[in-house]
Amino acid sequence: MTTKAPAPAPSPTSVPASAVGTFRSAAPLTNQRGHETQAFGSLVSMPIALAEDVRRESVSNLNQLLADTITLRDLYKKHHWQVSGPTFYPLHLLFDKHAGEQSELVDQVAERIMQLGGVSVAMGGDVAEMTLIPRPPRGREAPPLQISRLLHAHEVVLREARTMARIAAEKGDDGTNDLIVSSVIRTNEQEAWFVSEHVVDAPLVHAND
Ligand SMILES: [Fe+2]
Repeated sequence: MTTKAPAPAPSPTSVPASAVGTFRSAAPLTNQRGHETQAFGSLVSMPIALAEDVRRESVSNLNQLLADTITLRDLYKKHHWQVSGPTFYPLHLLFDKHAGEQSELVDQVAERIMQLGGVSVAMGGDVAEMTLIPRPPRGREAPPLQISRLLHAHEVVLREARTMARIAAEKGDDGTNDLIVSSVIRTNEQEAWFVSEHVVDAPLVHAND
């Protein structure tokens, strides 16, 4: 009985010339270069029945709010990692919960800017140049100082958010007003409450000194 020898593997030279183009079109095109399709600060028209000047003002305000919200989110993550002391565990968990909630706000604000025809600020270097929240040191700080920084950052966001919400309402940008009031202001007020209760000098054991 004779066995049939297996067919030899095709060598690269056996690829028909007609298939070379097919392979090329399936290959990833890396290292491409080009120009921006929309400059930061510019506005494209969107069919949402809102005048250009209204959308422009909302985009500008929302980008400031976005830069500060990204910074607040990162401040929570920094403190989540670097917290210390007897309250390490509850603060470690609380800071991460708030970082997650701020991350949700970042996405909502950034997407609102795009819905209005603008361009959202995105990268850390650009955010650092825009934010109104003071830059913390790279090193660790004690929990009371971490909390003071967070409360100040919340107040920066809340102060500008209240003004921006009023402007949006007056100009008829109800979607922006709703986002700022229902999501940004409500979330920041709630988080500020949770965090601030940790720096109340309440007695641990005896009700009266
Ligand atoms: Fe973590």
